[in-house]
Amino acid sequence: MYRLFRPGVSGSVKPRIVVAASGRGSNFEKIAEAVSTGLLNATLECLLVDRECGALEIARNFGIRSYLLSKPWHKSFDEIIDQINPHLIVLAGFMRIIPENLVEKYFPRIVNIHPSLLPAFPGKDAIVQAYEYGVKVTGVTVHIVDKGVDTGPIIFQKALEVDESWSLEQLEEKIHQIEHEWYWRVIRELLYRPFEIVGRKFRWLDEEGL
Ligand code: GRF
Repeated sequence: MYRLFRPGVSGSVKPRIVVAASGRGSNFEKIAEAVSTGLLNATLECLLVDRECGALEIARNFGIRSYLLSKPWHKSFDEIIDQINPHLIVLAGFMRIIPENLVEKYFPRIVNIHPSLLPAFPGKDAIVQAYEYGVKVTGVTVHIVDKGVDTGPIIFQKALEVDESWSLEQLEEKIHQIEHEWYWRVIRELLYRPFEIVGRKFRWLDEEGL
């Protein structure tokens, strides 16, 4: 049984989260918004990036500390995470494979979002892959990070029917809308609700629903 955070009696201590990104940072932005409006009751400790990217500017706008990971990136990643000891490490378009030793060290505290219905279209450019394949249904997956690429236990999926008239850009937009609506909510549930992972299977251990 896992419970990542237990609120104290006063409720003043909040769970700590860290976000890692490599791209424009739209998911990070939604998470930062949810934190700043109090919808997501957590402290966003910092943003980690492995390259210059749009997410850095978003961090600046929100006044969130950011670190550009130096080489080897996983060493600085581990050092910073170790210091902060976050309840959850949120990957939001972080284009690196987390090394096995770190996955083991932090399991099940690293979570990732992927823009397809896994196990379909893992890896890079999942929306393009799904679009070009001509699927009629695709969607978004949030999963715990394990040693593989996009293979970890699935926490949440949202399906989207693909209209045949849509361009790739339209599909991308719809997928991102779903991500933005749901990722911070899944993060909130993950922080506050008990769950278990048996083999590949993730299961909530209480009666509430998302
Ligand atoms: C998202 O589509 C996410 O699912 C994938 O990378 C993309 C990141 O987009 N892992 P953004 O940087 O959050 O805008």
